[in-house]
Amino acid sequence: MAKIPCSPDEVKPPSEGHLIEIRDGKLVVPDDPIVAYIEGDGIGPEIVRSALKVIDAAVKKAYGGKRRIVWWEIAAGSKAQELCGELLPKATLEAIKTTKVALKGPLTTPVGGGYRSLNVAIRKALDLYANIRPVRYYGQPAPHCYANRVNFVIFRENTEDLYAGIEWPADSPEAKKIKEFLKKEFGVELREMTGIGIKPISEFATKRLMRKALRWAIEHNNRVVTIMHKGNIMKYTEGAFMQWAYEVATTEFRDYIVTEKELYEKYGGQMPQGKILVNDRIADNMLQQIITRPQDYEIIVAPNINGDYISDEANALVGGIGMAAGMNAGDYMAVAEPVHGTAPKYAGKDVANPTAEILSATLLIGEHMGWKEVVKIVEYAIRKAIENKKVTQDLARHMPGVTPLKTSEYTNVLLEYIESYEG
Ligand code: NAI
Repeated sequence: MAKIPCSPDEVKPPSEGHLIEIRDGKLVVPDDPIVAYIEGDGIGPEIVRSALKVIDAAVKKAYGGKRRIVWWEIAAGSKAQELCGELLPKATLEAIKTTKVALKGPLTTPVGGGYRSLNVAIRKALDLYANIRPVRYYGQPAPHCYANRVNFVIFRENTEDLYAGIEWPADSPEAKKIKEFLKKEFGVELREMTGIGIKPISEFATKRLMRKALRWAIEHNNRVVTIMHKGNIMKYTEGAFMQWAYEVATTEFRDYIVTEKELYEKYGGQMPQGKILVNDRIADNMLQQIITRPQDYEIIVAPNINGDYISDEANALVGGIGMAAGMNAGDYMAVAEPVHGTAPKYAGKDVANPTAEILSATLLIGEHMGWKEVVKIVEYAIRKAIENKKVTQDLARHMPGVTPLKTSEYTNVLLEYIESYEG
């Protein structure tokens, strides 16, 4: 077992596996790739443990002994504090740069003061610009009457917009200076005691996100990619986001796509075979549309704040947080993590739902690393477990008469279904 690295000179991956490489602009994944993982805080260790077991079983089922993951534990959060004396050791980031891929459990962010979110720090340090959130229905209890029509993948920009954190309190010298500048230079007057935030959205960040979304759509035979924005009001940020996103579609992906305008002007409303429709929707309408017409949407591309709102809404439609997977990806690197947090009240009790963590791991191994069979097998096991009412308490409480399983029992159920998978 390789040691958890605390200092950069301790970043030594396990000797029994091989590192993922980048060649000709592509990830080259060996049959025994080293994948880093961070247990995380709260329920993290329990659900990450479950995810590793499920992934190992699915890889074994899919490839016999030909392929296997060599897991390498690295640390952040309370475990890193304990072992290394700091919450996010440089060695942890170095290790992820070395492996290119990592699975992460949730990490605690104290409210007010203390330190900034470690999750944000990791995404920033590694330039993981796309937050990818699939929202699927596996048969779980869900509030939407047509939850089975929900099948989205949300691409949320991760580095810009109001999330960039460029803001100053109303009574700060910075806010005062900006107010004076705006008045003097542009004749714009703001009230006394006005807090100021800046919403940057760039062509570069928008275009790379859209490229990722379109590549995903092509690879997965999706029918529609929708740009979500509030460009009618915020013309030069969200409006520009829309324009740049269309520009990528119509220049770099011309052979694959038809825009909604072209659909009606050129094709009389009949989608040409095999093409992807690229359309856009104003954010507020979009938030309604995924409820009223979920079947019309597949890939949703959004600036940060819209992406934040819509992914939570979308997950709520299909039954919430214990099932919501995510992955933060850059051009080559990716860190997968569930959408939910550390659920402190369940920590150490063996009751949390590990599905979101398992599905996040599946995104990493199956989609980012390209071991697609793993996706099929894990999703099959999850569907089977829900169908047979073998679920943890968060789902069981919405299923009358169903006795909840512990995290470890549910994990064992998934392992059994994986074992019985016949393709
Ligand atoms: P939370 O997601 O931990 O919990 C929200 C609700 O969902 C709670 O009722 C919780 O018990 C339940 N829940 C969450 N995951 C569950 C699971 N797997 N199975 C069953 N029930 C589950 O969000 P909260 O309470 O706002 O945050 C707790 C801590 O987590 C905070 O320190 C927060 O900063 C951190 N956090 C970390 C994230 C990350 O690491 N990416 C993301 C969100 C929050």
